[in-house]
Amino acid sequence: LLSEILVPASVAPPGSSRFVRACLRQPVDRTPVWFLRQAGRYMPEYMAVRKNHSLLEICRTPQVAAEVTITAAERLGVDAAIIFADLLLPFTPMGLDFEFVNGEGPVVHQPVRSLAHVEALRTDRAEELGYVAKAIEIVAKHFEAPRADGDTLGIIGFCGAPFTLASYMIEGGSSRNYIDTKKLMYASSLPGSPDAKAWPLLMEKLIAVLTEYAQQQVNAGADVIQVFDSWAGALSVSDYRDYCLAPTTELIKRIRAMGVPVIYFGVDTASLLPTFSETGADVLGLDWRVPLDEGWKLAGSGVAVQGNLDPITLFAPESVLEARVKEILALANKRPGHIFNLGHGIVPGTPVDNVIKVVELIKQHG
Ligand code: CP3
Repeated sequence: LLSEILVPASVAPPGSSRFVRACLRQPVDRTPVWFLRQAGRYMPEYMAVRKNHSLLEICRTPQVAAEVTITAAERLGVDAAIIFADLLLPFTPMGLDFEFVNGEGPVVHQPVRSLAHVEALRTDRAEELGYVAKAIEIVAKHFEAPRADGDTLGIIGFCGAPFTLASYMIEGGSSRNYIDTKKLMYASSLPGSPDAKAWPLLMEKLIAVLTEYAQQQVNAGADVIQVFDSWAGALSVSDYRDYCLAPTTELIKRIRAMGVPVIYFGVDTASLLPTFSETGADVLGLDWRVPLDEGWKLAGSGVAVQGNLDPITLFAPESVLEARVKEILALANKRPGHIFNLGHGIVPGTPVDNVIKVVELIKQHG
């Protein structure tokens, strides 16, 4: 295609892992594989650590976060390790208190609802997030040497996207309808409104903190950054374009300028994929609702794709699981730029053996 001739993919540095090469749409010996939430409550080794530490303690103790990251990657035999951390960690240095309430997910005690609240958010303390970089350093050191197959493991750092992080700040937790988030977004279209400047200022502050946070992770050895816009699927294409595309594009541009590929991920995003590819991300995450080939067509030939097995397929009989994995590989058709993953995170209760089975299938047929 003409567009591919005019805008060639960046070239992977020599010796790059198959995971990094696939992010840049370069040929690989086989499809790389890793899983969203690969270190989590489905895994007995994680639950054993969790017995003695809260989620935030694990995140904030580099040695423990690194151990959880390494254990999951080695147990599963995947091609990349995502650093154990959480999307909401940057809230603390910004001055927003939150906690994880069992069974309810995250709770932000004083949600951001007005211009004054946004003005009070701090952007000058991102260095307090250095514990995540410290954990990445330990993980990168551990996986420095090539594995038995000669390939090195990819090290993935991550952060939230402006919209998804803003939604937690504004709603105060998980949400169904994102009413307050959208109200603040829409207020920016009414110049006379007292909160007209709140949304753009919030986007600007998030971009500032996330840029510094991502830079720390890259300096520490992350060779790819995944930007989670998990809940962008709640937006119409018009609202995404009017309120989120520019800040997301700016963040991704800044991270790519650090010399690493960016994976941009959301759920329920089929209608948004053509717009997502305008962000400049190297890789787009596909959820399981869209067949992989259709999703890739929507994303365009200029990006790699990551996905897209339904995580609940990991509860299916082996024959069904195997059929679904092979179906995804067939739809990808060995075209350079496919990273096998789930469409969203592994859920608690998932049999570990079935996750390992998928890795084996990819090693055989990918
Ligand atoms: O291997 C890994 O992927 C684990 C690292 C990781 C965690 N959170 C640890 C975690 C990652 C990549 C995240 C990102 C994250 N955090 C996202 C984006 C990914 C996605 O799923 O779309 C989001 C939306 C969050 C915010 C968050 N953290 C929620 C909504 C919850 C509650 C989930 C629930 O079911 O209770 C969390 C808690 C959390 N973060 C857990 C883990 C392993 C589970 C809770 C625990 O161990 O106590």
